[in-house]
Amino acid sequence: MTERVLVIGATGNIGVAAVKGALHSGRQVLAIVRNQASANKLYKHAGTSEGITVVEADVTSDTGVKSVVDQVKAGKLPAFQHVYTCVGGEYTDVALKDITTERLRKNMNMGFEANFFAYRDTIDYLYEQNHPDSTWTICTGAQGELAIFGLPAMTQGPLFSMTTAASRENEKTNVRVNEVYLMFRVEVDEDAAAHGVSSSTEFASVYEGILSNPAIRGSRVRVASSEDFKDLKWAKKF
Ligand SMILES: NC(=O)c1ccc[n+]([C@@H]2O[C@H](COP(=O)([O-])OP(=O)(O)OC[C@H]3O[C@@H](n4cnc5c(N)ncnc54)[C@H](OP(=O)(O)O)[C@@H]3O)[C@@H](O)[C@H]2O)c1
Repeated sequence: MTERVLVIGATGNIGVAAVKGALHSGRQVLAIVRNQASANKLYKHAGTSEGITVVEADVTSDTGVKSVVDQVKAGKLPAFQHVYTCVGGEYTDVALKDITTERLRKNMNMGFEANFFAYRDTIDYLYEQNHPDSTWTICTGAQGELAIFGLPAMTQGPLFSMTTAASRENEKTNVRVNEVYLMFRVEVDEDAAAHGVSSSTEFASVYEGILSNPAIRGSRVRVASSEDFKDLKWAKKF
């Protein structure tokens, strides 16, 4: 049976890398998108639609991911054994004093809550599948500690604790929980070329490395330079 990865945030810079890594590893993808335009964006950046099933849902709502899992359970969508989440909010520099309550809540919803729902509403399904080497992976960033851009930094902070808690809870389950801690900018290939940063295609090998190595469990995979794309550096989260 071909394994499949549910990717939440699939149409972004990191999501495209997760999709590429999953496909290159011989797996298929179930990608949650917000609309058809986002699906087309994904196909364009991934360079293919083969092996990718898309489903529309609002991942920022607390019923969005759950509705997708319910459709999988009902046999309306294909089964998955792995989850990768990377929903993100604004990547922008704004002084804390200028962040309105509405803007703060919107960014915490996109940057933190959506990734929390991506754990809470998929983990029982991964247990039920009982695949011997399931994985649940999240991408966080150094911005969360450096806080050069305060707004995205604040949404990263709780993801660190959430992933440590999830790592503890899954130390003895069939699911390997891991955090990719990315310390520099990665963008979809055409933006990366325009901006002189690393590309989703280059970063894809990090996910492939996690999928293929059962020793990486409850860990932070630290990506500090492009040398870490293929030679993974990881350490237990607790
Ligand atoms: N890129 C980096 O270099 C980097 C480095 C370190 C950490 N990270 C972290 O990785 C995560 C993703 O970053 P990214 O660069 O891939 O972000 P991105 O390109 O902005 O992508 C964000 C994803 O979230 C989705 N999304 C955002 N708001 C949404 C909403 N209201 N409703 C539905 N979907 C929504 C986007 O969908 P649409 O495509 O439909 O807009 C997209 O799939 C973030 O948590 C970020 O902090 C990124």
